[in-house]
Amino acid sequence: MNSLQNQNTQPLIEMKIFNNWDIVAKGWYIVCPITEITLNQAKSFIVCGQKIVIFRGKDKKIRALDAYCPHLGTDLAIGKVDGNLIRCFFHHWAFNGEGKCQDIPCQSNIPAKAKLQAYATAEKYGFIWVYPDLAAPEQVAEFDELKHQSLVVKYDKAFERNCHHHICMMNGIDAQHLQTVHKLNIKMDLSLHKNQSGNIIDFTLGGEFPKTTFREKIASKILGNYYEYTMRYADGCLGLLTIMKKVKFIPPLHMIYAYTPLESTKTKIQPIYITKKRPGLIGFFISRFLLVMTKLAYYFLRGEDGMIYDNIRYNPNAILNIDEPLVKYMSYVNQLQPSIWSVENEMS
Ligand code: FES
Ligand SMILES: [Fe+2]
Repeated sequence: MNSLQNQNTQPLIEMKIFNNWDIVAKGWYIVCPITEITLNQAKSFIVCGQKIVIFRGKDKKIRALDAYCPHLGTDLAIGKVDGNLIRCFFHHWAFNGEGKCQDIPCQSNIPAKAKLQAYATAEKYGFIWVYPDLAAPEQVAEFDELKHQSLVVKYDKAFERNCHHHICMMNGIDAQHLQTVHKLNIKMDLSLHKNQSGNIIDFTLGGEFPKTTFREKIASKILGNYYEYTMRYADGCLGLLTIMKKVKFIPPLHMIYAYTPLESTKTKIQPIYITKKRPGLIGFFISRFLLVMTKLAYYFLRGEDGMIYDNIRYNPNAILNIDEPLVKYMSYVNQLQPSIWSVENEMS
């Protein structure tokens, strides 16, 4: 991390949660595709710097525990799934989904310390998710338009960025860069909505299509005069983007960016494209076509952003009025709750 560079000439603004590598905010973190953990299978993953074992018992449910056996520290993933328990390879202790030891083959007494931290899990959008606590107060975030619908999901290759996820997440609401980087000459107004618990915030940006170039004139003839998109952030680690809102002919397109901090001060980003399932053969092709459109839009939006986020030392020193969404986003992140995966220090 380059946080110490230019410390005297450009001191870094430190914040409670935002861009703070010691804090992992409470929230749903993506682990792996659902198909990676089949029946009776166990695998361990590093999620936000924590080694977690994920296993699927005979009841098909996914469970997640700290990966290291409380006896001597063996990675439980090299053990066996036994019914709905995971059994350690070394001395065959068995643990349930709440992390409680249920069986020690060499004695009937189970010591109080024979237990592990367990985590809430979810299977959504084709992926397994884990929450850094025994229970999660809310489900993995959804798009309003797609609630209670059957979905068609396609995911793209995950990639890495050389910065904290709170920083690259803001790309979608950086109004200035839409023009300077993506050449989208749209003046947009911002409206904000935060849910009651404060873990979800919607940034809706909308404006009139410009009609200066020939291309813009054609586009506004086809799609209409007004354009709107919403960036929904959940738990400061999930971005749900809806584009093509309020335009003619094309339904809104939905994509998710799931962010996880990596140990080496990098961020992993998993893009997922989503649309609702439509009935019949024609419906099948419409849904597939919309997923392709979503993917094309994603590649267009991604543009040259990578260059910025792989080289940034984020320090919001001279902020303009147009940067208001960024300021709102930072204060939203700073009111999130640190999870048990955070490193204790004086700022937490
Ligand atoms: S190390 Fe797991 S049972 Fe001994
Ligand atoms: Fe961008």
